[in-house]
Amino acid sequence: MIHNLFSTPIKHLNFKHLDLKSITKYCLSKTEPSLAYSNEGGHHSNFFDLNFDEVLHPLCNDILKASKEFCDELEVESVTRIKNMWCILNKFGHYNRDHTHPHSFLSGVFYPGENYPKDSGDLTFRNPSHMVMSYDWDEKQKNFNQYNSLKMNIQPQTGMCLLFPSFISHYVNVNKNKDIDRLAISFNIE
Ligand SMILES: [Fe+2]
Repeated sequence: MIHNLFSTPIKHLNFKHLDLKSITKYCLSKTEPSLAYSNEGGHHSNFFDLNFDEVLHPLCNDILKASKEFCDELEVESVTRIKNMWCILNKFGHYNRDHTHPHSFLSGVFYPGENYPKDSGDLTFRNPSHMVMSYDWDEKQKNFNQYNSLKMNIQPQTGMCLLFPSFISHYVNVNKNKDIDRLAISFNIE
């Protein structure tokens, strides 16, 4: 019998019911000029004004409700607010380097765009033990699973929202699609 000594959760949600077109239009109006964080190229917005920008309110309400449920499931103290939110538009050749979200409890990403082809850039989460596993556990896998993998890839889908502990490092693969810009909204919750 196998027991999970420790486990790394992410919560996968579908927010397709939201007004994705209006949210996308709002984001595209905020992506110039670009700021530099984990992004290599790409267009990184400033933090959104969550009190003033009403188009975001249904999204924020759904995120906060799901985050509180996530905390209940994890049996930890509940989060109370979205600390900040921003968007990143990755065009051809753009990507986001490996990073965590310090000074936050939960983080998340939401994909409001119309189309996320496989080559527009998967989101990759690293196993929190990836550094020590990389010495002797890499290249031993017969089939990749939650016990033996150093990383997990997720292909974005329209309306997908992911919540995850802010300590999990992650990166966004290069957008190799010349026709599709990859739009993501990121946020921190505390
Ligand atoms: Fe991130």
